[in-house]
Amino acid sequence: MSDYKLPDFIRARKRGASYQAPIIRDALKLNDVQKSLGRDLFYHVITYGCQANVRDGEVISGILEAMQYTHTELLQEADIIILNTCAIRENAEKRVLGEIGFLQNYKRLKPSLVLGVCGCMAQEEVVVQKILKSYPVVDLIFGTHNLFELPQMIEKILVNNQKAVSVYSYQGSIFEDMPSVRSLPHKASVMIMDGCDKFCTYCIVPYTRGQQRSRLAEDVIKEVVQRKQQGYKEVTLLGQNVNAYGKDLENNGDFGYLLRKVAETGIERIRFTTSHPWDFTEEMVSAIADYDNIMPYVHLPLQSGNDEVLRRMGRRYTSRQYRELFDSLKNRIPDVAISTDIIVGFPGETEEQFLDTLAMVEYCKYDNAYSFVFSPRPGTPAAKMEDNESEEVKKQRLYRLNERLDFYSKANNEKWVGKTVKVLVDGPSKNNPEIYSGYSPQQKLVNFKLKAAEVGDIIDVRITEARKNSLNGEQV
Ligand code: SAH
Ligand code: SF4
Ligand code: F3S
Repeated sequence: MSDYKLPDFIRARKRGASYQAPIIRDALKLNDVQKSLGRDLFYHVITYGCQANVRDGEVISGILEAMQYTHTELLQEADIIILNTCAIRENAEKRVLGEIGFLQNYKRLKPSLVLGVCGCMAQEEVVVQKILKSYPVVDLIFGTHNLFELPQMIEKILVNNQKAVSVYSYQGSIFEDMPSVRSLPHKASVMIMDGCDKFCTYCIVPYTRGQQRSRLAEDVIKEVVQRKQQGYKEVTLLGQNVNAYGKDLENNGDFGYLLRKVAETGIERIRFTTSHPWDFTEEMVSAIADYDNIMPYVHLPLQSGNDEVLRRMGRRYTSRQYRELFDSLKNRIPDVAISTDIIVGFPGETEEQFLDTLAMVEYCKYDNAYSFVFSPRPGTPAAKMEDNESEEVKKQRLYRLNERLDFYSKANNEKWVGKTVKVLVDGPSKNNPEIYSGYSPQQKLVNFKLKAAEVGDIIDVRITEARKNSLNGEQV
């Protein structure tokens, strides 16, 4: 008999109206064996998905280093490889299953290699069953709620020679003070909340990440102050729906309050993602407008420009409400850049309804956008809705949409040619070590010829050329 703890979607769906997540401040307890289990061993973590997952990847690395594992970039050198997965669309999942197939080869070469799968896919019943059945090489499966159990699980594998499978489907807790290995020296993500209660009908996140739970404002502020003292120049406040921050807490303050408090720490740059129009108040717009260190950039997912589709998506705003919020951001925050997410081919979407989405794009002229064909996620309401449109028509819609989105990305970028912008230097660009790159306040990727600057400096760059996804310039 196995002692596996398997995920359960019915339980994952449960929400308690007055649920206050427990705050756990000392979750990671290592026994003497675990403290040195990773000595002389190497780890590698592969992360897919959103910034929340990237942040979890940093915590997983932190836990492994607390066990004395050493990071390696080389897969063939690794003694443990962890795939930190995303479940948002089917093709994201297919890629991960392909990757497991590929990693089997390393396991053949090195039978002692521990292969682990975690993240949002590990929260899905069907996926875990499939991995257990088809990929016996996977020794370790854990979910998004129990990173702190990793040391016990590794001990079970290495010392007791057993597989370790443990996934919780429950509302979730808040973990403070977990160790982590930050991926960058000058920009830090700060989780302000986890989970999501919006239950948009197409989306799997409320099932894989649990109930919305916000960290206390004082804990968030403490972390930002620490990062500032450590020399970080930028923090990104992270949550699936940051504008709903604090709704699950009493006497804490909402996202507008948090933004102001974080701005008052004096850290140089503050970003936040993702915003949901539903919870975006005028007071939050004011907070962004009031502080120079809150960057003028808002990611404001539209999903669809048609009211009937929005209603069936469970987004709880109309196209008119979206436009009013959009206008308010544009009017009150000088030079604000706005990006979006759009889904085409939602079940039952007609050509006319799709044209409403295109009309909205013509209105908003987004700086940047992520567009997707609807992907049915098993267990979500939209996966059961009648869907008669062919994939071919959906792809055509995506193509037509992208043509307009690209046009506006480029047109918005062209407005910056000849101007000088402040760029936070990230380092040499990916393709050419002689060219450096960084981001402007509006979150435009800027490639430039360096005169003298180091990673983390904020410098002036004069823009000489606009491309669809980036700007080119020269340091002044
Ligand atoms: N919390 C964020 C979204 C996270 S998922 C928000 O509410 O805006 C990122 C994007 O993936 C979503 O905005 C949506 O556009 C897209 N997405 C989510 N589920 C999807 C699905 N089943 N099919 C296609 N796209 C999806
Ligand atoms: Fe998914 Fe909607 Fe929650 Fe965003 S707000 S994570 S799209 S359910
Ligand atoms: Fe993917 Fe999970 Fe994030 S499904 S988008 S990694 S919350």
